[in-house]
Amino acid sequence: MWKGRFAKETAELVQQFGESISYDWRLYKHDIAGSIAHARAQVAAGLLTGDEFASIENGLREIEADIDAGKFEFKTSLEDIHMNIEAELTKRIGAPGAKLHTARSRNDQVATDTRLYCRAEIDTLIPAVSKLQLALLDRAEKYAATVLPAYTHLQRGQPVTVGHHLLAYVEMLERDKSRLQDCRKRLNVSPLGSGALAGSTINLDRPAVAAELGFDGVTNNSMDAVADRDYIAELLFGISLCGVHLSRLSEDLVLWTSAEFGFVSLSDSHTTGSSLMPQKKNPDVCEITRGKTGRLLGNLVAILTAIKGLPLTYNRDLQEDKEPLFDSIDTLGLTLAVNAEMIAAMEFREENCLEAASDPLLLATDLADWLVKQGVPFRHAHELVGKAVAESVSSGTPLDQLDLSKIDAAYTPDAQTVFNLQTALAARTNPGAPSVENVRSEILKWQGLIQA
Ligand code: ARG
Repeated sequence: MWKGRFAKETAELVQQFGESISYDWRLYKHDIAGSIAHARAQVAAGLLTGDEFASIENGLREIEADIDAGKFEFKTSLEDIHMNIEAELTKRIGAPGAKLHTARSRNDQVATDTRLYCRAEIDTLIPAVSKLQLALLDRAEKYAATVLPAYTHLQRGQPVTVGHHLLAYVEMLERDKSRLQDCRKRLNVSPLGSGALAGSTINLDRPAVAAELGFDGVTNNSMDAVADRDYIAELLFGISLCGVHLSRLSEDLVLWTSAEFGFVSLSDSHTTGSSLMPQKKNPDVCEITRGKTGRLLGNLVAILTAIKGLPLTYNRDLQEDKEPLFDSIDTLGLTLAVNAEMIAAMEFREENCLEAASDPLLLATDLADWLVKQGVPFRHAHELVGKAVAESVSSGTPLDQLDLSKIDAAYTPDAQTVFNLQTALAARTNPGAPSVENVRSEILKWQGLIQA
């Protein structure tokens, strides 16, 4: 493609080192769509005849069909997807093919392709996140009233319901979707026409090209347009944070499926056995999810690091954006799909959840609230309950069986009414709190919001 200036062939090792076709072939549909839009603008500018355009378009469609069918031979010597397609087009249709690259550089071309690619992938990731939300909602509905201890510092804190706990993840995933949408909005502008870095002396109709490709507009600065990879960094951050949420869910499940907790059983289809210990049923999907999150974070750091030292504008370092991008998208897509399937099939062991939540110490805060309602200032109430807890722990008498009136006269016999899980939960009616009624109405709300 640049033979005019060079007397020697590119060294074999340099070709091997610099090629990107082994992975950027995945951009082919977007590359072809971009080329067709670009060629159409050349017709409007009087640079191509209608016949030349038709032969370019047909040639590109045939190449696309061959790639779809796995019949296209990619050449490492042609470096990347852009040159592979263009060279093959010229081979197939002759002269018009050599006109296609007018007023275009691979710099604005690759930026266009990757934006289109990210946009399309965001449009498949968002429904995949919804699918996992729906699986969580389904379980939240089934176990809306199942009482479960909730933890801080991994110490039992207060009773909630399984439904409430699972809805916390639905919230996180909703934020993940809105981050992806936000990233989509910002990336959806067309760099085509920015050329290598300074636009072109040949003016093609950039807004028309952008509209044909479904962009909302065009980039405003040719230098920024070819140098910018913010959208990749943003997307990889959005993916990383979604991965972090899935990793936290995984960690809950690893704990909950252990004999020590015994709250959840996963389906045999989503667990693995041990080659040595016959009794084992391992939550590998959760562990692999947790592990893969490390890769997602690594990919984010890789792109940020690649960009940070680059002078304007395009530098070949930017070619290193694609493998982390592809890997994170593939990884998150598969992670979401397998988790949705596993969550939809998981069962809670309700007796174990209830037993763990039945420790009266989990209602110590409610006892303090009860004292407050009798007129005791909260700090004093906290201390009085602390004394009762200390007495319970040292005497080995459960909190709800102590004679509280011996601790302080503020405790009347009525204090006993606090020790009832159902009423304790039912009292938590403020927005965001886990009364069963609240949880059920949240589930209904989400079911109306999330499309399958
Ligand atoms: N394969 C290159 C990339 O992914 C395409 C752009 C090449 N531009 C250049 N000036 N060498 O970044």
